Amino acid sequence: MDDRQVFERLLEMLSSHYQGRGQGSFLDYHRPQELRSLLRLDRDGKGSWEELFAWVRRYLDYSVKTDHPAFVNRMWVGANLPSIVGEMVTALTNASACTYESAPVSTLMERYMIGEMLNLVGFRGGEGQMTTGSSNANMIAMMVARNRADGAVKEEGLFARPPLCAFVSAESHYSMDRAANILGLGSRQLCKVPVDASGAMDASALERLLEETVARGARPFFVAATAGTTVRGAYDQLAPLLLLRQRFAFWLHVDGAWGGSVVLCDELRRRYLPGLEQADSFSWDFHKMLGTALMCNVLLVNRGAGVLGGALGAGDGSYLFRDEDLEGREDLGPASLQCGRRVDSLKWFLDWKFFGREGLARRVERSLALCAYAEEVVRGNPWLELTAPRVSFNVCFRFVTAAVDLNRVNLLLRTELYREGRTLVGLAYLDGQVTMRLLILNQQLSESDIDDFFAAIVFKGREILSRPLKTP
Ligand SMILES: Cc1ncc(COP(=O)(O)O)c(C=O)c1O
Repeated sequence: MDDRQVFERLLEMLSSHYQGRGQGSFLDYHRPQELRSLLRLDRDGKGSWEELFAWVRRYLDYSVKTDHPAFVNRMWVGANLPSIVGEMVTALTNASACTYESAPVSTLMERYMIGEMLNLVGFRGGEGQMTTGSSNANMIAMMVARNRADGAVKEEGLFARPPLCAFVSAESHYSMDRAANILGLGSRQLCKVPVDASGAMDASALERLLEETVARGARPFFVAATAGTTVRGAYDQLAPLLLLRQRFAFWLHVDGAWGGSVVLCDELRRRYLPGLEQADSFSWDFHKMLGTALMCNVLLVNRGAGVLGGALGAGDGSYLFRDEDLEGREDLGPASLQCGRRVDSLKWFLDWKFFGREGLARRVERSLALCAYAEEVVRGNPWLELTAPRVSFNVCFRFVTAAVDLNRVNLLLRTELYREGRTLVGLAYLDGQVTMRLLILNQQLSESDIDDFFAAIVFKGREILSRPLKTP
């Protein structure tokens, strides 16, 4: 096969897979041992395009169709077509977005997009960078705050320095725990603030914890509000945190990985994120609610351009970065944790241009409207109950019936529906209770798909009740 035939074959396979993305089952399920042999991982593929395409075929055949209406499991779904185009071009041109000289177009696209986002969010004189995801962005925000709170940490480390404490809600994402670990704070210095009935951070509890921290001689340096918590979709209120910041001078970060996309819609922003423009930093994933191909994240910093590079500083990068020339001054690498940087800007830019702010905002509003519909379906069905009040984009529910182990029934129900290729819904624990977390992102999904989804849940739940319970 020559190069042209390789491309033709590939495009043909991709195109037909894409056409069928919403049809049939969302997964041709096999147990791991069986799939291992179906994939023929041990076969020799040296130089054979036929063998190579056979693996591509198997990859496509046994993958989860994340674009299928039955895939309501995660904070991402099948990617938008413009961003898929971007990914393909990115793979083909294979550059690292750390220097302008090797990646001029992606550098300017990233800078352009960051400028657009800073304007949109309302951060003035700030800066930003694309990172590998919000976990990374949250950690970088915490690091910038740490180095601002104690200017000596970069050189001295945290040894024999006054303790620094960070605060997040008890329902914040686990990336915060990892950030505290990686940055040397230790998990004890990451205070988990209790939440209210909606799952949002209780600001008076935060105030008490801040006072106690100061009273014992430690320094509260970082508070992260979550804009859309992972399980319940709660939004921590920013207004009381902004007031507390005046008193305690911490860095206020907003983790908008999941729910940050409400900034695109004026009304939703007023409802969920008033005061965002006064925060110190904001992380936001385009690969979640907005459907850009994984990974597509941006970390934005308010005011004080230069803090990102300043916080990282150290190390001799002169073999790579030269700010004495015109091109070098555009480099994005000096402000990044990474040296090699995957180009994520092209797909981001293409989605932004193709759909525009308005188009993406409609998508967010549509998801929210379908979540409200799903909530009503749960409320109206005696076999179902909400496991948490719905506050935004997460519909937390379970199958209910009297006098059985509901956790076991719900676990079994979800697993069986998955293995049968019927549906894959998220699962989490709330106060020890198994809860299903329905996330509606697929733009092809309609109210009747939601009806079908719940009908499948109830049907399976009742079927399980009709036989002896076993473990999934
Ligand atoms: C609230 C929140 N923050 C951060 C993250 C981590 O984001 P990423 O997967 O981009 O690292 C998640 C992921 O689900 C999340 O829900």
